[in-house]
Amino acid sequence: MRVPGDKSIGHRALLLNAIAEGAAVVGGLPEGRDLAATLGALRSLGTSIAEIAGDRVRVEGGTRWRAEEPVDCGNSGTTARLLLGILAPRATAPVTLVGDAGLSRRPMGRVVEPLRAMGARIDPAAGPGPAIPDRLPLTVSGSSLAGRSHRLPVASAQVKSALLLAGLAAGGVTSVEEPRTSRDHTERMLERMGARIRRAGRRTTIEPGPLTAVDVEVPGDLSSAAPFLAFAAAREGSRLAVRGVGVNPTRTGFLEVLGEMGARVEIEVEGDDPEPRGTIRVQGEGLRGVRLGPGIVARVIDELPLVAVLATRAEGETVVTGAAELRVKESDRIESIVRGLRALGAAIDPLEDGFTVRGPTRLKGAALDAASDHRIGMALAVAAALAEGESELEGAEWVDVSFPGFFERLGAGAVVPT
Ligand code: S3P
Repeated sequence: MRVPGDKSIGHRALLLNAIAEGAAVVGGLPEGRDLAATLGALRSLGTSIAEIAGDRVRVEGGTRWRAEEPVDCGNSGTTARLLLGILAPRATAPVTLVGDAGLSRRPMGRVVEPLRAMGARIDPAAGPGPAIPDRLPLTVSGSSLAGRSHRLPVASAQVKSALLLAGLAAGGVTSVEEPRTSRDHTERMLERMGARIRRAGRRTTIEPGPLTAVDVEVPGDLSSAAPFLAFAAAREGSRLAVRGVGVNPTRTGFLEVLGEMGARVEIEVEGDDPEPRGTIRVQGEGLRGVRLGPGIVARVIDELPLVAVLATRAEGETVVTGAAELRVKESDRIESIVRGLRALGAAIDPLEDGFTVRGPTRLKGAALDAASDHRIGMALAVAAALAEGESELEGAEWVDVSFPGFFERLGAGAVVPT
């Protein structure tokens, strides 16, 4: 099978080309609501984006960086956080960023505070409810920023990217050090666009300067392939190949976990410019439990709900720790996956920073809730497909955030049992 384009890379291809000089074509964009939020936000900020085909657009620079109305980031944390960093030095009039109820609950202080330390002006804006510090809606007024050296308390590609994009238009040098290496799509694209960027271990340094627009072909999204890879891995004798998918090593933690749990996994890299892509093959075998800690968490963060699903099929105990970030994703993913898998009969317990699962258990169909979270919706759909009997999933439409058509693909027998 093939899967929709990578959401993380798609956001960046649009946002970075909107900053850059010149025009570029971005192809392979996914259809989901998150990418639509970035397209809509940029258009409202004055970027000219022309559709060439369903998944292909031409982005012209010359963005005005001002908007008449509040800019809607929908459910997309990447859109909101990267835009905060982009707008802080560039907004030509105050811009208010808003989001849906879920995004408005998510912490923005992790981006806003370091940006303020560079001289950014970001203030709470009037919203439907009482203002909560450093949550959307926020108003960014453009100001001149001073480069600065940042040390992040949590590994976050969104925060790192926001600070690098602010640093590109700040006075002096900006550097960002993270406790663990998070996904590096921004750095790779900045290098291709001619930015003066240096990487040494977990520290990235950037100097101000212009970017040159570059064409980007977005590879398939490993995070969208993951539910199908998990489904195949959970069924002994199943085999699945996913083609044209991004295999950036900062994202492939899930493939390592599948291997550690006992599945056969092969990665065939077919290109590397600027993002590695290739074919992933998985063969289901008897699974065993794993222990995952902070060392791997950043590389598998969005797939941890699927690790919980697989653990219900695995022999022995699975323990995931160092993953407190799960609590501030589109839902509290520790709570939502524990609730869903318990409803199906799994022996899963929450930890402050992860979960434990004792397997194997026979899952039985139940009433489930996607918790307004696309990844929880997909993970519970896989669990339900593995369970005996029928399940009903409330909020199934949330999968459209990253993967419209997911259920049709899961139901169409994309995974072929032998
Ligand atoms: C993303 C980074 C991760 C990830 C999210 C997408 C990105 O979040 O969970 O789905 O595109 O940069 P954090 O940066 O908050 O860890």
